[in-house]
This record gives sequence, structure tokens and C-alpha cells, in this order.
Amino acid sequence: MDLGGAQTPDIASKVFTFEDTERNTRDSLCVSIPEALDPQYGMYVWPCAVVLAQYLWTQRDELRGKTVLELGAGVSLPGVVAARCGAKVILSDSTKTPLCLENCRRSCEANGLNDVVVLGLTWGEISPDLVLLPKVDVILGSDVFYEPQDFEDVLVTVAFLLRKNPRAQFWTTYQERSADWSIEVLLHRWNLSCVEIPLETFNANKSDLAGSTLPGRHSVQMMIISLKTEDAGL
Ligand SMILES: C[S@@+](CC[C@H](N)C(=O)[O-])C[C@H]1O[C@@H](n2cnc3c(N)ncnc32)[C@H](O)[C@@H]1O
Repeated sequence: MDLGGAQTPDIASKVFTFEDTERNTRDSLCVSIPEALDPQYGMYVWPCAVVLAQYLWTQRDELRGKTVLELGAGVSLPGVVAARCGAKVILSDSTKTPLCLENCRRSCEANGLNDVVVLGLTWGEISPDLVLLPKVDVILGSDVFYEPQDFEDVLVTVAFLLRKNPRAQFWTTYQERSADWSIEVLLHRWNLSCVEIPLETFNANKSDLAGSTLPGRHSVQMMIISLKTEDAGL
């Protein structure tokens, strides 16, 4: 862990380096994410974030110029990678956790991102800030399905945004922490469909990713959620 550049004694930065092993070019991206030394959720990078960021890196050509919103961003590794790949990024976390919103801003500063918007968006709340968002092309959520009681709130926010732009998609990584983990009934209720993206298809089936051992032995999964085709008019 690189402690250089820490702004206060209880902040330390982690560096992630994404490389183009697929096409074997010399393309690479290095981002630095400040973490607060605090056990609360949203104060440090979770294994799911590294996997989602790797997916974004492999989709970088598609992301350029797209409007991307990250939900429950915490320290915002995926959102920062999307912004560094040329997307117009909005980072969000709960209105009730101002420290997480501060983390979003700190991560932008650490990576020289001056035009990223940071917003308080609480899942399940159709707030003025949510309603006033521009059309979003890609919604990101890393490890937002961890408290079963919040699953429907996450999907309410996602379904609202997908209805505003029926061609948009929700790219999300999650960890199944219990055997009865399921969002199937909720997807059906909100008329959403879901496709699992195998980790090997984007070179993320490794315990060591982007120079970080965070993914380790965690069983992280990736899926893309969209409106059911009849609603999306596809
Ligand atoms: C497990 S952490 C994941 C953080 C980050 N996405 C990552 O993967 O490194 C969950 C995040 O969701 C945020 N969160 C929790 N409840 C929320 C809610 N009701 N509305 C919006 N964000 C919420 C937390 O503040 C935290 O940043």
C-alpha cells in the first residue's frame, strides 16, 4: 500500500493498474484510490469493485462519451475508471452517508477528474436529484446487493433510470454471501431481465487483478440488468 500523497493521517491510497492482456497492446490505465482507515462500508475498495473496474476497462471503447452513473459508489473505483476511459460520470452514494460522498470527491481529486458530478442518491427514493438526472447510458453498482432488505430499493432506482432510457443497462458485480441469495422475484416484479457475464470473458477469473490481490478467493459474479425487451422496445 502506497502511503504517499495521503491528505490526512488516516487516509492511504491503493493503486490499480489495468493492462491490455487481451489485445496485447501497451494500453494501460493506472488509478489511485484513497481509502479511509475506517471499517464502515464505503470507506475502502471492495473485491467487487476491482472486478467491475476490470469489466469497464475491457469495454473502454464503448464507454467513451457515454453518461455513466455509479450507485453506492463509496471510494468509486469503477466510476473513476469509467471517467478515465472517457465517460461522463456521475458518482452517487446515500444522502445519509456524507463521508462516502466525501470519498467520491477525494477519489476524483486523486485522479485529476474535475468534471465528475457527485450526488447524494439513496436507493429506492425518487428524489428531485434522481428525477433531474440526464439520460444515463450505463448504471454501475459494485457490491450493492449485500443487504437483502435493500435489494428491492436498488432495483427501484435502477428500474426508474432504465425507464427514462430503455436502452440503458445496469452493470453490477456482487458476492453471494448466503446460499439463499436471489433477486429473481424482484427482477420479475420490476420487469427486468438479467444476463450473467462469466468472469473469464473479461479476464477477471483471477485472484490477482489490476495489480491487486483484493479479489482473492471471493466468489464475485457479474451481471447486466436491463428492461425486459417488450418494455425496452427492442
Ligand atoms: C459494500 S459498500 C460498496 C462500495 C463500493 N461500491 C465498492 O464496491 O467498493 C456499499 C456501498 O453502498 C452504499 N449504500 C448503502 N446503503 C445505501 C442506500 N440505501 N442508498 C445508497 N447507497 C447506499 C454505502 O454507503 C457503500 O458505499
